[in-house]
Amino acid sequence: MAELESVQESSQVQELRVKYLGKKGRLTEILRGMGKLSAEERPLIGQLANEVREAVENGLEQKKQTIEKAEIEAKLAKETIDVTLPGRMIHTGNRHPLTLVIEQIEDIFLGLGFTVAEGPEVESDYYNFETLNLPKEHPARDMQDSFYITEDILLRTHTSPVQVRTMEKMQGKVPVKIICPGRVYRRDNDDATHSHVFTQVEGLMVGENVRMSDLKGILLEFARQMFSDDASIRLRPSFFPFTEPSAEVDVSCMFCGGHGCRVCKHTGWIEILGSGMVHPRVLEMAGYDPEKYTGFAFGMGVERIAMLKYNIDDIRHFYTNDLRFLKQFNRV
Ligand code: DAH
Repeated sequence: MAELESVQESSQVQELRVKYLGKKGRLTEILRGMGKLSAEERPLIGQLANEVREAVENGLEQKKQTIEKAEIEAKLAKETIDVTLPGRMIHTGNRHPLTLVIEQIEDIFLGLGFTVAEGPEVESDYYNFETLNLPKEHPARDMQDSFYITEDILLRTHTSPVQVRTMEKMQGKVPVKIICPGRVYRRDNDDATHSHVFTQVEGLMVGENVRMSDLKGILLEFARQMFSDDASIRLRPSFFPFTEPSAEVDVSCMFCGGHGCRVCKHTGWIEILGSGMVHPRVLEMAGYDPEKYTGFAFGMGVERIAMLKYNIDDIRHFYTNDLRFLKQFNRV
């Protein structure tokens, strides 16, 4: 009983139980030795032993219950929930600004009857250049410094190869009306306005009597839905090997409304894309009779559109993925 007094844990109670009442326990030994006693002693000692065992058992049981109760109370005290604590913030993710802008562009063109096409980022020289009227040794190939994987395979430098891939799939059927968003790669030193990987959206429409005025109308509608209802556009003559004629398209400056400011370099206009009428040789190489069909095409840089729309000053923000930047688009 004195030993039981100093016990603190339920495991120690069990140890004592074994020590005294177990198979080889002290009391068990005494009870076994009863056979050696005389007939007179046996009932006396037997009764005494029973009393002792009962007392020990009760003592053990009581101690066990006291300890268990204390343990439960300690556990409850430790696990108390403070219902007045403020809740934990649940951080939810949001879409990347480039994804948002691609989806906006897609929405606008889907509304104009276009569908979304895709093509590979690892592309052949044939589709990236050759079928776009850029034969080997053509000086315009230098316009786009490329990442080559082999002599004939490269990371696409633009989304224009999807024009030819789509026309080949359509096998001469019209109308062709697609846009193609995707990543493109160029050997460039990254800075605030250049990135060696960036995103373009290509557009292509081919059919009978597709005219430059259709291109103008579609792009004006795009500019109005993308930037503002009163946006206007202008076409400047340009050159691309895969279009003839070619035009660079400016949108009226969305920062100053065309009055002239720092962003538009006081011209009132900001360049947003390249475009033109699909070159007859491109149509021909893709299996479309250029005597019968015409088409327009355009290609725009998504980062540039996003930077203009959300007033972002450095293209590298899109790729360094600083959460302080990305989180700002959680309500767009
Ligand atoms: N592929 C051109 C580039 O990356 C952009 C472009 C210009 C695409 C004119 C076109 C187009 O479809 O008609 O610079």
